[in-house]
Amino acid sequence: MTLLNENERAARSSALHHDSVSYENGQLFIEEMSVGKIADAIPTPFYCYSAFTITNAYRLLADKLGASRTLICFAVKANSNVSVLRLLSGLGCGMDIVSGGELERAFAAGAPPSKIVFSGVGKTRAEISRALEVGIHQINVESPAELDVIRDIARSLGRRAPIAFRVNPDVDAKTHAKISTGKKGDKFGIPLEEIPELYARAEASAELDVVGLAVHIGSQLLDLSPYRVAYERLADLVKALRSCGHLVRRLDLGGGLGISYDFGAGPDVGAYAKIIEEAFNDIDCELTVEPGRWLVGPAGLLVTEVLYVKNTGNMATVIVDAAMNDLMRPSLYSAIHPVLPLQDINGGDSSTYQLVGPVCETSDVFGNYEGLPKLRAGARLAFGCAGAYGASMASTYNSRDLIAEVLVDGARFRVIRRRQTIEDLLTLEVERPWQASNTYADAATAL
Ligand code: LLP
Repeated sequence: MTLLNENERAARSSALHHDSVSYENGQLFIEEMSVGKIADAIPTPFYCYSAFTITNAYRLLADKLGASRTLICFAVKANSNVSVLRLLSGLGCGMDIVSGGELERAFAAGAPPSKIVFSGVGKTRAEISRALEVGIHQINVESPAELDVIRDIARSLGRRAPIAFRVNPDVDAKTHAKISTGKKGDKFGIPLEEIPELYARAEASAELDVVGLAVHIGSQLLDLSPYRVAYERLADLVKALRSCGHLVRRLDLGGGLGISYDFGAGPDVGAYAKIIEEAFNDIDCELTVEPGRWLVGPAGLLVTEVLYVKNTGNMATVIVDAAMNDLMRPSLYSAIHPVLPLQDINGGDSSTYQLVGPVCETSDVFGNYEGLPKLRAGARLAFGCAGAYGASMASTYNSRDLIAEVLVDGARFRVIRRRQTIEDLLTLEVERPWQASNTYADAATAL
């Protein structure tokens, strides 16, 4: 990837709807906060999010979609930090969850059950019970077998379960194979042709309140045409169901709106809203959308420091202190995140640098980058567009602790998740009585 110079970047960023990362006097800023100053206070690596960028993104989307008809439910999996959820919830945003853990996070952030949608292909009985007990807005059903379980649980709780059927519309989302969800054969949803019979069966159950349909065809969609195809199929299905006398009150249109990972403008949210409007203008229904990446992706940086530079053949290899366990996207999807030096890039050298992390896996590579300044140990860098599917996908592989997350708001910042310690990790691990000793310290002495 080639970095843009400052003028190009300024021109591009003015085209972006919610960019708050800039250079001032050669220093990288997020909002009015110098990233270097944060890095002086917090050990790298850490995630850093802009509250302003998230707020702007939400407001823009709500504005384009016409908030009165459309409920925006943030896909919690994209960034599940409670402070980020609270920020969005405070703006009126609902939550799209896929596990009991995400439900509790949504509650911890103050989201009301009336704005929470439960998606997910494998909900457990315990998760379904909890969702019904708290009076969740809607459960999106992914299979006939799951429908039976939901009905049984609703009956035993003496409650009606508000359900929508997740349709698999057999549409190619034209995205990375690992994040495409709406093609025949994908594990998600129910084939379109099976819906009418299932809908009728569910409507006949007193325990089920069949509210409508849901669809989600994939993530990181840059070409919007697959939405049009999927939504037209959904609209036709609604008409077919209604003509058979079924009630369809709500449509959940999923998430998936992509962002540019290359300083470009990305898909036009107005065009996305127009596709929705055109597909459903003659259908009287409440609408829900479930964006994740688009709301938070551009708002985040992963700040890291160079540990070593070494020559591995034809390229200088730069080992940074962030790794695949912190940001999994490059090794999992070959994703490339832009890199921004914390100090200005004037005088960038002509080297191509391979940026890698310390984890013991050959796939722990962030990518090859040109146009960076000369890199030495101690240089600090930020991976951009890291607000979505960064911290939320992190692991402790290689016994690396989960890193801190920071929220910036104007000229102030706050740690919104402290960094884990090795003690945090070790306290979960209980040695068995039949082992020689039952504390870590004793075991060390016994050796
Ligand atoms: N709704 C459902 C049912 C989903 O499965 C997803 C994402 C979303 C909404 C939100 O999609 P978004 O607007 O964020 O594209 N880890 C991958 C992305 C996985 C997306 C999974 N489902 C990545 O880093 O690219």
